[in-house]
Amino acid sequence: MQRYAGKNVLISGGGSGIGHAICLRLAAEGANIILIDKDLKGGQTVEQELKRQKTKVLFVQADITSEADVEKVHKEATLFFGTIDVLVNNAGAAFAENYAMTTLENWNQDIALNLTGHYMLTRLFLPDMEVQGKGAITNISSVNGAQSFGNPAYSAAKAGVISFTQTLAIEYGPKGIRANVVLPGTIETPVWQSRKNSRPEVFELVKGWYPVGRVGRPEDIAAAVAFLSADEASFINGASLNVDGGLTAGNFRMIKDITGE
Ligand SMILES: NC(=O)c1ccc[n+]([C@@H]2O[C@H](COP(=O)([O-])OP(=O)(O)OC[C@H]3O[C@@H](n4cnc5c(N)ncnc54)[C@H](O)[C@@H]3O)[C@@H](O)[C@H]2O)c1
Repeated sequence: MQRYAGKNVLISGGGSGIGHAICLRLAAEGANIILIDKDLKGGQTVEQELKRQKTKVLFVQADITSEADVEKVHKEATLFFGTIDVLVNNAGAAFAENYAMTTLENWNQDIALNLTGHYMLTRLFLPDMEVQGKGAITNISSVNGAQSFGNPAYSAAKAGVISFTQTLAIEYGPKGIRANVVLPGTIETPVWQSRKNSRPEVFELVKGWYPVGRVGRPEDIAAAVAFLSADEASFINGASLNVDGGLTAGNFRMIKDITGE
């Protein structure tokens, strides 16, 4: 499928994990890619990988919590590509494990990265999409944005991303711009490495909570993003898509305890 032939796509946090998989998936479908990441090595590695596959690609090192960096991204992307057709707000991370560990500093860090950063990037690229009269914005939230799974400040930000997406869908739908949000469950990416180092069995334990019997892969999220951001999804606007193997559909473990199966 070449659903993205000739389209310019910007992906934040494209240097690792889910963002990397989104870059590869959309490039394979013909997209030109602008990836941004604060991690120079990760971003450059993905840029080289895409160049080897003959994708037109630009990596910009930027911290999405810095207004100056985000403005630099807009300037460089505009110079290189003109306007963009698709924005994927993916960069994110969690700083405080539970409420007792949540300081004002890491609360602000979580909100700045996982919510305000998405707002800042969107704010700069929306006017160009408005002039074009079309565009798609796909945000990456989390199941944490819908239910409590720890990381309270991160979760509050991810819930904010769902609300932010709905606002964009309502206000910009009439201008030809769609906004949707993906809520991933546990996805095996480098962000889990330190937890895996201290508890190697973590995914084996966690998969017992998933009705499909496994945790997610970055490609699972990339497939959802590729669908929601494509023109064939033109009637999907303001949707929240859980990509979580059924985790939030009900209490799988409790039912197993009740039925004994
Ligand atoms: N992995 C999971 O289990 C999971 C589950 C639900 C949601 N998510 C969400 O998916 C997204 C991607 O997560 P991942 O698992 O691929 O993580 P990851 O750590 O593998 O990748 C995140 C990327 O974002 C970049 N990044 C972090 N802060 C940044 C900043 N300030 N500016 C620019 N880039 C920055 C990192 O350098 C990294 O390359 C995040 O929004 C995360 O919250 C992940």
